[in-house]
Amino acid sequence: MTDTPLSVSASSGGYLVHARPGVLDEVGAIVGSLTVGGAVAVVSDLTVRDLYAERVEGSLAGANLRVASLSVDPGERSKSWETAGRVLEWMSEAGIGRDDAVVALGGGVVGDLAGFCAATYMRGLMVAQVPTTLLAQVDSAIGGKTAVDLAGGKNLAGAFWPPAVVVADPECLATLPDTEWRSGLAEVVKSAVLDSDEAVRMLEADAPALAERRSDAVARAVRMAAGHKARVVSDDEREGGSRESLNYGHTLGHAIERVAGYGTVSHGIAVAEGIRFAASLAERLIGSDREWTARQDALLTACGLPRSGCALDPGRVIEAMRADKKSRGGQVRLVLSSAPGMWEVRAVDDATLADAVDAWCRPQEDGRRS
Ligand code: NAD
Ligand code: GLY
Repeated sequence: MTDTPLSVSASSGGYLVHARPGVLDEVGAIVGSLTVGGAVAVVSDLTVRDLYAERVEGSLAGANLRVASLSVDPGERSKSWETAGRVLEWMSEAGIGRDDAVVALGGGVVGDLAGFCAATYMRGLMVAQVPTTLLAQVDSAIGGKTAVDLAGGKNLAGAFWPPAVVVADPECLATLPDTEWRSGLAEVVKSAVLDSDEAVRMLEADAPALAERRSDAVARAVRMAAGHKARVVSDDEREGGSRESLNYGHTLGHAIERVAGYGTVSHGIAVAEGIRFAASLAERLIGSDREWTARQDALLTACGLPRSGCALDPGRVIEAMRADKKSRGGQVRLVLSSAPGMWEVRAVDDATLADAVDAWCRPQEDGRRS
């Protein structure tokens, strides 16, 4: 497997994604080679700080950078306007200047929050994304979307602010709790489905090793999925076209999370259900074959994402699906895949949607979905 950095084109001029085991100890050298200022503001959460801040801060100090650090509470609640205000005030008190840099050390919450603060502090400061969850390494740290949540919904205040670099060390994933690991795996399966038959085959072969988090398989999965995301956002930075495909499985997935109550069904299980749902609808709407549906189902299961048995009200699920950002004029639009590496976005008429969601909400005798 190659260790060459992945490259992303962006309006900022582009950046590299260093995705390889052990690269965490090189954060100092990498960031030091990019910043002209002498200081870095490391933003993390309390869990990640205890696990990795010493190594990262040591590496930054070793590159002669002055390090100021702040850790927020772990979890989505920190992706708030209030926390962003606190981080910005702290940056000012810590004497961070316009030539300095922000290092976002953590999962997607820290990446989105610190990225948003970097976008707004002094009208824009360089940010290095150092993702420590699987989801962040293969998805959220790449592509420049930053945001905080508002009372009215997730990611309602945000900015496109491409990082100057992404440093993703798959070895960090050994300490991830199982739920977070599986959330990332759902994104990895999504990436393979959208990418190519080669990526799906690689994942099928690696699924047992991934279930045990074997380091070689983990590093391959991160590179495959991060590489896919890097290509997609290079092609479509602002989500005017192909970036929409990254929502595969997320229209129903987000609706499940919302209707079940956030935190009740994990993001990974919800997205896995969304992928299964989209796969079976693709048979009806775009003539994909049943084998492709079965193959996606089997891959998800092999990756530790079994079918869910939670019972939800179909009307509320449809209402939540209509709130998806891809909807147009109240009509739900779904990403559908006809074969590995092949996808399209289709508007789904109300009757077909109601039928499909009803079927999905009807538990089989074993408590699983039909
Ligand atoms: P997260 O950042 O909340 O991290 C999950 C948990 O794992 C946290 O408790 C964290 O402390 C812990 N953790 C992180 N790294 C760890 C490690 N190596 N070992 C042990 N524990 C660790 O969640 P997430 O799933 O990484 O990110 C979710 C967020 O990402 C959401 O807010 C979502 O909206 C956002 N997101 C953004 C984009 C984007 O393009 N910007 C894309 C997808 C998701
Ligand atoms: N995770 C979807 C995107 O980055 O566009």
